[in-house]
Amino acid sequence: MNTFYNRKSSVNFSNTDCESLSIDAVVDAAMWAPSSRNRQPWRMIAVRNGSEIFRKILNASSESNQVWLKNSCVIIVFCTFEIDDMNVNKIFLDVGLAAQNAMLMATENGLANHPYGGWKEDQVKEALNIPEKSKVVLLLAIGTEGDPDQLPDELYVKHNKVRERDSIQAHFAWDEWGEHF
Ligand SMILES: Cc1cc2nc3c(=O)[nH]c(=O)nc-3n(C[C@H](O)[C@H](O)[C@H](O)COP(=O)(O)O)c2cc1C
Repeated sequence: MNTFYNRKSSVNFSNTDCESLSIDAVVDAAMWAPSSRNRQPWRMIAVRNGSEIFRKILNASSESNQVWLKNSCVIIVFCTFEIDDMNVNKIFLDVGLAAQNAMLMATENGLANHPYGGWKEDQVKEALNIPEKSKVVLLLAIGTEGDPDQLPDELYVKHNKVRERDSIQAHFAWDEWGEHF
């Protein structure tokens, strides 16, 4: 159960042994997410550090993300299946659930992981040959944990930042819209 609490968006990646890092269990966990009418609308494309295609996805990511992303081993691009005129909200939700499963399995397996939304959709789609009717939902970096002492100052501070959440009352109530919402 602690996996839920231990998962964190890590900036502490070490890009050693990236060739041998397996994401099989992570992808399998994603596949077992629930989805509306069991449509399994997620499509996942992984790129591995060291390849030209990884470099393209890195460059399509925002500069602030590149700082830690460049040391990750694998980036999984979560996108939707090809959409004509479907209920996009449900499809996005389903893909998000798959991504959460993936993050929990990565955490369970001791892999650093970090979801991010800072990327240029057109560049990501072009690099990976994603069809126009598919939407990119989330990118997920996975890798091996680095040595925090080797991190540059900016990342060291982020790595040690205490993770916080709002009070439960601000987000949850019984029976009606909460007083503290
Ligand atoms: C949809 C989405 C987009 C995100 N985009 C970024 C991002 O572009 N850069 C980043 O550093 N973190 C990003 N994050 C990570 C969040 O900042 C992080 O989940 C949040 O601060 C809570 O921290 P935690 O994941 O360690 O609990 C994103 C997370 C989600 C779910």
